Amino acid sequence: MTEHHPWRRKDLLGIAELSRDEITALLDMTAAFREINQRTVKKVPTLRGKTVINLFVEPSTRTRTSFELAGKRLSADVINISPGASSLVKGESLLDTARNLQAMNPDVVVLRHPASGAAATIAPAVDAAIINAGDGAHEHPTQALLDAFTIREACGRIEDVTVVIVGDILHSRVARSNILALTRLGAHVIACGPATLVPPEVESLGASRELDLDRVLPECDVVMALRIQRERGTGGFIPSLREYSKLYGLGPARMKKARPDTWVLHPGPTNRGVEIDPAVADGPRSLILQQVANGLALRMALLYLYAGGGHGETAA
Ligand code: CP
Repeated sequence: MTEHHPWRRKDLLGIAELSRDEITALLDMTAAFREINQRTVKKVPTLRGKTVINLFVEPSTRTRTSFELAGKRLSADVINISPGASSLVKGESLLDTARNLQAMNPDVVVLRHPASGAAATIAPAVDAAIINAGDGAHEHPTQALLDAFTIREACGRIEDVTVVIVGDILHSRVARSNILALTRLGAHVIACGPATLVPPEVESLGASRELDLDRVLPECDVVMALRIQRERGTGGFIPSLREYSKLYGLGPARMKKARPDTWVLHPGPTNRGVEIDPAVADGPRSLILQQVANGLALRMALLYLYAGGGHGETAA
């Protein structure tokens, strides 16, 4: 890949700030970066001399590993700061932490934090690009971008594709970012789950609201299951996990109500046997591991753009 459009944004705080053209450009660029991951030698010198700091104040497997690997495959120096292993646990504020990291002149800081708005708080205080890797229940823009890429690849388009997102919409930054991204790209998005977990406000984001999964399943091209987030108190919004699973869990019997060509997504981590049955998670229509593979390519594209590659330098 050698040519690209200039990228003028300093930070990636949420999907809300991105236009349809910008999202499409990111998805196109992801396809180009994915090719690097298929090579025997999966490393290019594109970001040599650049520094990426992964500041993860909440646990993560997929997002943190893929940002680290993305930086390394582009030859950036990558530093990881884990939950519990920074001076945040000694009482230092997030803003002070950010200012101290800035003093070491990184190019990109990737932040995951339990508080909504955390990335937006530090972005104006530092010169480094801030990439939001999930902030509380607000947004998870890189997840939504990799999901949009995965859907576009599987369905051949996003325009007019019907996607049902099932589960804890209320607490889900993944749902919020996906509704914004997919509707901006022309998809029909249905937010589905128990009334306590699907607030009427989803309609102001562009989704329709549905409480009966079995009613909408036959019309869907894609069904995306969300995890029951016990750490955000979801358990208090449903009678029991067993009840939830009966009404909203994706098992083989329920999936018979979907068309045979319906794709299954889940951002991970999964609670097997709760929102998704192993037979579906590991079945032929599951794109769960494809999402992870695409996430690496998407994060390579983002690091390339936000570390300065979108300002006239060339990629691999
Ligand atoms: N989907 C996602 O964000 O997974 P991690 O929490 O493992 O990063």
